[in-house]
Amino acid sequence: MEYGYDPRTLGWNKDCQWVRYDAALEGLRSDEFGSIFDVGCGFGDLLMFLRCRGWKGEYVGIDLVPELIEQAGRLHAQDTGSEFVCADVAQFSREHRCDLAIAIGAFNHRVAQGNLKFIRETIEKMWAISSRATVCDFLSTFSEPQKREQHLYYAAPTDILALAARYSRRVMIHHAYMPFEFQVKIWHDDQFAVSAPAFTPYAGLAQKQSEWRDTLVSKKGR
Ligand SMILES: C[S@@+](CC[C@H](N)C(=O)[O-])C[C@H]1O[C@@H](n2cnc3c(N)ncnc32)[C@H](O)[C@@H]1O
Repeated sequence: MEYGYDPRTLGWNKDCQWVRYDAALEGLRSDEFGSIFDVGCGFGDLLMFLRCRGWKGEYVGIDLVPELIEQAGRLHAQDTGSEFVCADVAQFSREHRCDLAIAIGAFNHRVAQGNLKFIRETIEKMWAISSRATVCDFLSTFSEPQKREQHLYYAAPTDILALAARYSRRVMIHHAYMPFEFQVKIWHDDQFAVSAPAFTPYAGLAQKQSEWRDTLVSKKGR
């Protein structure tokens, strides 16, 4: 590892990981990430970020690169709620369940088997492992073409939205935290009541509005 414990070792040329992690948690309730499976975890910097914020959940990180996993293991040696596994996500077969499966930066490089195939197969696996949500990020085709790098893969947000919509009606494309990257969030719970078609976290608001209206009408009349 030429740069050692440094974002450049992971292919990041700027120190923006915390921006990505913060964006990844936006819209997720704390009970939706009580346990995390981190695909392409690198040094486990997501875990560091979460612990700094007081997160007490269980974390499993996997990565292809043995040196990264060894270094991650050393950095987090005192953290009894964490585990680092050296594996290709495609081959990861251990029985595992988590609330949230997340992949930050894992799809950035071009891969021989074709990136959309890799993305589809990895999301399939992340979805099977997770019970609450799956979150991934991508370099975006909204970036300026002349600034793109040949060895990197840029995904079209519309393609990713279409892929996510196969899993759930409750999906979010977040393209508002960095100019050339975006994230997709896919929730398992996409139920709603026909009487107030809002997803579970928002259903209480619909109920509150009805109660507020009833109170107002009973005070003022129709
Ligand atoms: C850009 S780095 C991001 C690391 C980390 N998620 C972060 O936020 O700093 C992408 C990581 O994904 C890992 N990766 C890529 N393909 C993978 C695969 N098929 N299975 C496991 N890890 C993979 C790479 O080894 C690399 O460490």
